[in-house]
Amino acid sequence: MYEDMERVLIAEDEIARRVRELGAEISRDYAGKELLVVGILKGAVIFMADLVRCLNIPVRLDFMAVSSYGASSESSGVVRILKDLEQNIEGLDVLIVEDIVDTGLTLNYLRENLLTRGPASLKICTLLDKPSRRKVNVQVDYNGFVIPDEFVVGYGLDYDGRYRHLRDILILKRQVYCGKEQRENCT
Ligand code: XMP
Ligand code: MG
Repeated sequence: MYEDMERVLIAEDEIARRVRELGAEISRDYAGKELLVVGILKGAVIFMADLVRCLNIPVRLDFMAVSSYGASSESSGVVRILKDLEQNIEGLDVLIVEDIVDTGLTLNYLRENLLTRGPASLKICTLLDKPSRRKVNVQVDYNGFVIPDEFVVGYGLDYDGRYRHLRDILILKRQVYCGKEQRENCT
C-alpha cells in the first residue's frame, strides 16, 4: 500500500497534537453553548471523530454528503447535496467540519446553503488548507495545517475511495493519479 505513496506529509502524532489544540480552542470559543457539529462525508469522519472527543462542551453531531471529485482528483466546481442534514439548524450554533479546503468551491456552497437555514452562528473547521489552489474566497475559522499543492490521502482522505484508514497524512505518488485524468499539475 505504501508503495503508492511519495512520503508522509503529517505523521499521526503531529495530527493528534494539533487536533487536541483545535479542540481546546473550539471549546473555549463556545463555552456555555451547545454546538451542532456537521461532518462532511466521507472525508471528514476520522478527523471529526477525534476532534469531537477533544471538546468539553455539549455537542450534537449531524452529517452531510456532497458530490465533489468522484474518482477524480480535480474539482468539477459543481456541488450537489447527496445527503442532507437530519435536523433543522435554525437558531443553533453550527460548526462545519471538513477534511480539506482546496478550490474552496465545496465549502463556499455549503456555507451559503446552511446560512439560508437561519443558524444562530456558522463557522468552519478544516483539517487541511491548500491555499495555492483557491478559486473562491472562503473564511475558514479553524484550520489544522496549511499544506502545499500535493494530492494527499489518509486520515479520512481518499483517492478513488481508498486509503482513508491510514493513520498518517501521505502524499500520493503522481503516477497513481496522472494519466488517469488531466490534473493541472500533471506535467
Ligand atoms: P474544493 O476544491 O471544493 O474541494 O475546496 C474540497 C474537496 O476536495 C477533495 N480534495 C482532496 N481529497 N486529497 C483528497 O483526498 C486531496 O489532496 C484533496 N484536495 C481536495 C476533498 O474531498 C474535499 O472535501
Ligand atoms: Mg471531501
